[in-house]
Amino acid sequence: MFSIKSKIILAYTLVFGLMLTVFAFIIYHSTKEAAFLKLNTNLKAYSISLRAEIEDELDDSASLNLKRLSSIKSKGLIGERFQLFNIQGNIIIYDSVLSKASMPNMDKILNESYEIDRQKIGHRRYHILWSKFETENDSVYILETAASVKDVFDELDRLFYLFIIIIPAGLILTGFAAYFISKAAFKPVNQMAETAKNISGVNLEQRLELPRAKDEVRALGETLNEMIERIDNAFRSQKRFVANASHEIRTPLTVIQTELEILEKRLNDNESKESIKNALSEIEDLTKLTNSLLTITKLDSSETKLNISRVRIDELLADCVQAMNQSAIKKNTQLNLSIEDAIEINADKEKLKSVFLNLIDNAIKYSPECSSVSIILEKLNDNKIKVSVENTGTGISPSDIPYIFNRFYRSNEIRSEVSGSGLGLAIAKEVVELHRGEIKAESKVGEKTIFSVILPEINA
Ligand SMILES: Nc1ncnc2c1ncn2[C@@H]1O[C@H](COP(=O)(O)OP(=O)(O)O)[C@@H](O)[C@H]1O
Ligand SMILES: [Mg+2]
Repeated sequence: MFSIKSKIILAYTLVFGLMLTVFAFIIYHSTKEAAFLKLNTNLKAYSISLRAEIEDELDDSASLNLKRLSSIKSKGLIGERFQLFNIQGNIIIYDSVLSKASMPNMDKILNESYEIDRQKIGHRRYHILWSKFETENDSVYILETAASVKDVFDELDRLFYLFIIIIPAGLILTGFAAYFISKAAFKPVNQMAETAKNISGVNLEQRLELPRAKDEVRALGETLNEMIERIDNAFRSQKRFVANASHEIRTPLTVIQTELEILEKRLNDNESKESIKNALSEIEDLTKLTNSLLTITKLDSSETKLNISRVRIDELLADCVQAMNQSAIKKNTQLNLSIEDAIEINADKEKLKSVFLNLIDNAIKYSPECSSVSIILEKLNDNKIKVSVENTGTGISPSDIPYIFNRFYRSNEIRSEVSGSGLGLAIAKEVVELHRGEIKAESKVGEKTIFSVILPEINA
C-alpha cells in the first residue's frame, strides 16, 4: 500500500520523534531534580545562617531582633520566610503564610536535624525545612524556613515550551530530510524503471543507465541489463530463424507453383484440375505468409530505411486497383477509385504500395460477394493527404478494433472462414508510421468498414 519511500520517511520520523521525546523527558526530569537540589541546598544555607543569628541573639540578650532576622537573605531563593518554635511547639516568631503549613511529626524533626517537605500553601508551592537546635542554656528550638519553588517551575515551564516547539520542528525537519534522502536514493531506481518500461521487442538493444556509485542499485541494474541482453539474443536468433526459414521456403514454393501450373495445363480431367487449383491456392497463401514474414523481419531489423522518392499517389492507387482487379472479379466485387487531383508525395513507393494492396485485399476478402469497394484519395487542409478504403460487410466488432494492428491478430469469426496470416495490418501500420503518418480503422458492425491512411504531403 505504501511505497518504500514513504515507509522510509515514516520510519525515520518515528524513530527520530521517539528519540527526541525520550531525550526531552530525560532533560526535563534531570533539570527538575537539579533545580530542586539547588533550592534545597540554598534553603539549608539560609536556615544555617538564620539559626546562627538566632543563637547569637538569644545568647547575647535572650531577645530576638525580628528586623535583623528578616534582613537575612539567601542567594538563589525567592519568597523565603521563617517561623520559630520552642520545644513545646509554641510559636515564638510567627509567619502568616507558614502558619498555614502542616507540621510533620515532632519526633521526626527532633531525631533528624533537617527535615524538608514540599507543600502547597495558597496557590504557591514551597519547600519547607525544619531544623532543631540548642542554645547555650540548653533550650531547644525548632526553626522552620521555607522558599517558594516558583522560580524552578518557571524555568521548567520555559523548558517545556521549548520542547513543544523543538520536537515538532525536529519532526518536520526529519521528514523533509528523509524525503530528500530517499528521493535521491531512489532516483536511479526510478530512472531504471522508466527506461525498462519503454523497452519492448522493437528496441531490445537499449540498456538501463547505471548509477555511478557501485552500490546495490547498480548491481540490480547490471543484472537487469544482462537479462535484457539474453532476451535480445534470444529474440535475434528467433528472428534470424524466421527470416532464414521464410527465405529458404520461398524458392521451393515457386518451383512447386510453376510445376503445378504446368501440370494443370497438361491435365484434361476436371477433378484433377480442381485438386491442383486448390493446391495452387494454398501455395498462394503460403507465399503471401512467407513474404509477410520476410517483410516483418526486415522491418524489425533496424536496417530498414525508407527508399524515399517522389511518388504520384494517384497513380500508385490506380496501379493497386489494377493489381487487385483479378481478385475482385473472382468475388464479383467492384473497385471504385475516386481521385480528386494528381498528388505527388515523398514516400517509399514499394512499401506504400504493399500497404494499399493489403487494405484493398482485406476489403475484398472481408466483404460479401457482389459488393463494391471504394478507394478515395483526398487532400486535407493541413498539408496532408488521406486515402480511405471502404467496404460493406460484417465489419469489425469494437472489441477487436484495438487489436487488429497487432501481429498475427485475426478476429475469431473470420479465422476459420477466410485465409490470412494476421500480419497485413501490422506491416501497414509500421510502414505508415515510418512515413510519419497514421492509420485508423472505423467500423459499423453489419454495415461497413473504413480504413484511412493519413500521410504528410511533403513538398507537394
Ligand atoms: N475490411 C475489413 N473488414 C472486416 N474485418 C477486417 C477488415 N480488414 C481487416 N479486418 C480484420 O483485421 C484482421 C487483421 O487483418 P490483416 O492484418 O490484414 O490480416 P489478414 O488479412 O491476414 O487476416 C483480419 O483478420 C480481420 O479480422
Ligand atoms: Mg490482410
